[in-house]
Amino acid sequence: MGLTAKEYDPKDLPGEFVELYGGETSDVRVYASPARINIIGEHIDYNGGKVFPAAIDRYLYLAIRKRSDSKIIYNDLRFPGSYVFDIGENFSYDKKNDYANYLNGILSQIKVQGYKLPCGFEILMASNVPAGGGISSSSALECGFAYAVSDTFELGIDRIEIAKLGQMSEHNFMGVNCGIMDQFIIATGKKNTAEMLNCATLEYEYAPLELGDYRFVVMNTNKVRKLSDSKYNERRSQCEEALKILQDKGLGISELCELTPAKWEEVKSFVTDEVLQKRARHCVYENQRVLDAVAALKSGDLKKLGLLLNESHNSLKEDYEVTGLELDTLAETSQKEEGCLGARMTGAGFGGCAIALVHKDKIDSFIENVQKEYTSKVGYEAGFFACESGDGVKRII
Ligand code: GLA
Repeated sequence: MGLTAKEYDPKDLPGEFVELYGGETSDVRVYASPARINIIGEHIDYNGGKVFPAAIDRYLYLAIRKRSDSKIIYNDLRFPGSYVFDIGENFSYDKKNDYANYLNGILSQIKVQGYKLPCGFEILMASNVPAGGGISSSSALECGFAYAVSDTFELGIDRIEIAKLGQMSEHNFMGVNCGIMDQFIIATGKKNTAEMLNCATLEYEYAPLELGDYRFVVMNTNKVRKLSDSKYNERRSQCEEALKILQDKGLGISELCELTPAKWEEVKSFVTDEVLQKRARHCVYENQRVLDAVAALKSGDLKKLGLLLNESHNSLKEDYEVTGLELDTLAETSQKEEGCLGARMTGAGFGGCAIALVHKDKIDSFIENVQKEYTSKVGYEAGFFACESGDGVKRII
């Protein structure tokens, strides 16, 4: 049925670590860094909008130990081969370094901030987060690593700074002009809550994630995409263009999401380019949907929440144009299923994952039916799992 294979148990990690590097398990620290879903508020974190993500109970595990020399060694149980560096080097992006780029990106930003590492260290990772799958495997890696290094070397970098380091690494090292949402929720998430984050001010508030008999099911298109190769940066520039047009017309706003829907309707004719107008409309209405969704969840109105998820997907399909056959098939098939209150793509889009809010007694039939439709339309299987909320990055061993 395309369900995800047996999960990795992090209790095994210290043993595997000493098998690889030698020494004693007692010196090995293990950190867990979660994946995230974004319940609603898509592509507006970089437009000063409000977003509503939650950390989920799928983690990347990272074991670390200081070395007596200046070497840095990375290994990952999923990928063969080691990467070896030195604390003295100038870290720069190199395609052949594959996942190690995410880690070096963090080290480069730590250096820029003036932090110093007195010695090298070794790392072994394992993960239950599908890579490139739209639930933020890359941010889990960045924030998990930044937190583990900070904690191990007692650098005292706080959680919000951890998130910013991750974002800076994406911008300056990986070439993706992402917003702050993913890194922020991974650094600050709390079990049993979702978090409403105001991306203009970085003020945030936890809302109890009380879903009664309903669960979020994550649906992976299994269409792997790299954000650096996608149209992500182009979408961001289009929003900046639309903003600039409105500012040049004398509107005193510094972000698109400062506009209410009513104000937008008044000024939208200034944006004459049809594509730019669609991009901006998505942002303004999506921001309003976040406020409505948080209110719906707080008042226990899950039906309303579900409808807002559907509207969000439609706007991402028609106005923001970041969905595609795979995500549309998952979301739109889900929306028609019995026991499903709503569904939408989550994350950047262009592939990756969608989420659906499904009655717990209907999850099996839901998965079976959506899988059938997906396979017949797309030609290969999707992956499914029901998730619970999780904690932000933390040390577990
Ligand atoms: C990616 C980015 C986030 C955000 C989402 C879309 O996940 O990393 O900053 O822009 O896409 O909402």
